[in-house]
Amino acid sequence: LTGVITIDPGYKNSGSCKSEITFLDGELGILRYRGYSIEDLAEKAGFLEVSYLLIFGELPTAQQLEQFENDIKKHTLVNEEMKNIIDGFPKTAHPMGVLSALTSALTAFNPKAVNVENEKEMYEAICKTMAKFLVIATWTYRKSMGYPLNYYDNTKGYVENFMQLMFQLPTGPYKANPIIVDALDKLFILHADHEQNCSTSTVRMVGSSHAGLFASISAGVSALWGPLHGGANQAVLEMLEEINKDGGDTDKFLAKAKDKNDPFRLMGFGHRVYKNFDPRAKIIKKAANEVLETLGVDDPILEIAKKLEAAALEDEYFKSRNLYPNVDFYSGIIYRALGIPTDMFTVMFAIGRLPGWIAQWKEMRENKEPIGRPRQIYTGHPLREFKSNK
Ligand code: SDX
Repeated sequence: LTGVITIDPGYKNSGSCKSEITFLDGELGILRYRGYSIEDLAEKAGFLEVSYLLIFGELPTAQQLEQFENDIKKHTLVNEEMKNIIDGFPKTAHPMGVLSALTSALTAFNPKAVNVENEKEMYEAICKTMAKFLVIATWTYRKSMGYPLNYYDNTKGYVENFMQLMFQLPTGPYKANPIIVDALDKLFILHADHEQNCSTSTVRMVGSSHAGLFASISAGVSALWGPLHGGANQAVLEMLEEINKDGGDTDKFLAKAKDKNDPFRLMGFGHRVYKNFDPRAKIIKKAANEVLETLGVDDPILEIAKKLEAAALEDEYFKSRNLYPNVDFYSGIIYRALGIPTDMFTVMFAIGRLPGWIAQWKEMRENKEPIGRPRQIYTGHPLREFKSNK
């Protein structure tokens, strides 16, 4: 071994790369994409516009955005044979597992998108991924419901397509509620990138071996699935429903979260970087109130969430550990009000995070980053002579 190896569990104090994409300040609760504040982008930009910004580095002109949207529309058809793969899954399969498998399977049907040798090939692989990932993400839901799989409608916008892909039934016409489309557009923006989080680091690591973009994104989906990461938005709703069923006794669950002998954690609370409010949680909390009010949804779960948040923010254990609500704490409440089923919440996170994963993979490839290969400190047996135990 040359030099000293220091172990840094969870890479809490390690930097893996230089990046120009996203800036976080955990103390001040700041999040910026390519220098623009998340507050401005959530308020004034659209999801595809922000996707373009993350991936190509600048806000698009109207013409560039139209071109990007049209280039995505060229690839919105998913090979019919992909249906054989989804048909191999039981209806009860978790959508994140299906999504990861289908994303990896895209390689089989788009072999040219595997090794991008030039800018043109990279751009085409990016547009293919943006197009096909949205469709197969909704197929996971349609499959679980036993509904026929829908096709992208090139006469509609990206987020509006998400709604029709998910909810349009052959039994009648479907029109997406523009309030819901707007709310989702904002939610996808808020999830779009977050520097070197667990799933993005996974996308970079897998991509660093020059595995293709689909394989790298598929690995990111698997990492995001975990309840400590993107899976937290589903776990938050399950926790809030449990508290609600238990009579809304938030103090009892706060005590469980503080009990070191109890594995229960307050889902949607805490963050590796933010030691202050997650700026996304603030925006989503405000949006939750607006969306539920506009839709006339009176969800007791929202009141439980607010009661739990207020109690935790007053509590010494949480205050002393700088534990605040994160992006996952309120997002599930909005998804539920929008009619999204709970086990699709993390798929929603993946759809939002897709442009961030793509941008980070593109930057890693363009910077010709070396293959990821950390070292270790060996603590196993010294050399020993072979003596069979048979
Ligand atoms: C996301 O990294 C990103 O950017 C992720 C993300 C993104 O956009 O990509 O922001 C998305 O993943 C948000 C996080 C979603 N996960 C959850 O909400 C799950 C609940 N949160 C925790 O599991 C935890 O806070 C993590 C995983 C988010 C962060 O864990 P860390 O940084 O490894 O912190 P830690 O586990 O070392 O906790 C420090 C202390 C410990 O107590 P002590 O050992 O010091 O006594 O705080 C405690 C922990 O026990 N703690 C919690 C807690 N989170 C931390 N105690 C109770 N409930 C919690 N939620």
